[in-house]
Amino acid sequence: MKPMENVIELVNRIQRACTVLGDHGGDGAAASLPALWEALPSVAVVGGQSSGKSSVLESIVGRDFLPRGSGIVTRRPLVLQLHKTNEGQEDYAQFLHNPKRRFTDFALVRKEIEDETDRLTGRTKQISPVPIHLSIYSPKVVNLTLIDLPGLTKVAIDGQPESIAQDIENMVHLYVDKPNCIILAISPANQDIATSDAIKLARDVDPTGERTFGVLTKLDLMDKGTDALDVLEGRAYRLQHPWVGIVNRSQADINKNVDMILARRKEQEFFESSPEYAHLASRMGSEYLAKLLSQQLEAVIRARIPSITSLINKTIDDLESEMDHLGRPIGSDAGAQLYLILELCRAFDKIFKEHLDGGRSGGDR
Ligand code: GDP
Ligand code: NA
Ligand code: MG
Repeated sequence: MKPMENVIELVNRIQRACTVLGDHGGDGAAASLPALWEALPSVAVVGGQSSGKSSVLESIVGRDFLPRGSGIVTRRPLVLQLHKTNEGQEDYAQFLHNPKRRFTDFALVRKEIEDETDRLTGRTKQISPVPIHLSIYSPKVVNLTLIDLPGLTKVAIDGQPESIAQDIENMVHLYVDKPNCIILAISPANQDIATSDAIKLARDVDPTGERTFGVLTKLDLMDKGTDALDVLEGRAYRLQHPWVGIVNRSQADINKNVDMILARRKEQEFFESSPEYAHLASRMGSEYLAKLLSQQLEAVIRARIPSITSLINKTIDDLESEMDHLGRPIGSDAGAQLYLILELCRAFDKIFKEHLDGGRSGGDR
C-alpha cells in the first residue's frame, strides 16, 4: 500500500476503536477520544427521501448490501468503513455489534442492517440516532468512511411522531456540522434543483461549498427533451467541486437483481452514448465519484495531519498513563481496546514521521 493509503486505513481503525470504547462508556483516558474522533474526517450522504442516497453508497462500494426502496427505508445512521485489502482476498463484512461474525453473503448484510434497525425502532417507521457500524473489506474498495443517513422529509406519515422532520434534520446536523465532514449532497435530476433538500442543507452548513460534493441522480428519469447540463456544468448551483451525475439501478432493476458490475457498465454507457453528456462522460458515474471522494479525503487528512498528530500524541500520553495506572488490563474488553488504540496511535505517529512529514518534526516524543 502507498503511505497515504496506510494513513487513511489507520485513521479508519482509530475511528472504529474509539467507537468501541465510546460504547463502553469509558472515562479517564477515553475522555480524550471524542476530540480525536471529531478530528477525523468522514463523508456523510444527505438528501431527500428516495433521492437515491443508499443506491449511491452501494455503487461506490460496488456491492449490493443496503436496504433501499420507496419511503423511509434508512432509519438509523449507518457508519460504513471501507477497508482496501490485498488483491485476491475475498470480500467480507463485519458489524461492530457482532464482531465475531464475518459476512461473505451480502444479502445477509442487508438482512442484518434491517434487523438491527428494527431492534431499536421496532418494525415501524420510527427513526433512531444510534448508528450501526459496518466495515467492508475488499481489494476493490478505496479507503473511505461513509455515513448513510435517513432522508430529509417534510411531513410525518402514519405512525411517525409530528417531530419527525425536525428529528431527522437534527440527526443529519450531528454529522454535517463537523467541519471535517465531507457532504455528499444527493439531488434527483427529475426534480427542480432549487427545491433540493440536500442543497438547502449544504448551503446552510457549508456556504462556500468547499466541503460539499453535488451528486445528481436519476438522470435516466428526466423528461424527454430536457437535460441537466445547467446543474452538471455548475451554472444552476455553483460548488467548488465539480458536480457528478449518476445513474443508479431503478426499482425494476433491483427487483430483477441486476448486478452491480452490469449496472456500472450500463451507467457508463448511458453517459458515453448520450449526445448531451458524452463530453462529460469521463467525469460522471459512481466509479469516478468514489475516486474523487477518496482524493478529497486524502487532501483533508493531509491538511489536518498536524492537528490530528497533536491530538494523537495527547491520546497516547493519556492512554500510557492510564495503562500505567491500571497495569495491563488485557483481560477486560475496554482495556484491550485502550491498548489497541494506543498501538494504532503509535503506528500513526510512526508512519506520519517516516513518510509524510519530510523530517519537519523531531522524533522525540
Ligand atoms: P434513499 O431513500 O435516498 O436512500 O434512496 P434509495 O437509494 O433507497 O432509492 C430510492 C428508489 O429510487 C429505489 O427504488 C431506487 O431503485 C430508485 N433510484 C435511485 N437512484 C436511481 C436512478 O439513478 N435511476 C433510477 N431509475 N432509479 C433510481
Ligand atoms: Na428510500
Ligand atoms: Mg436510504
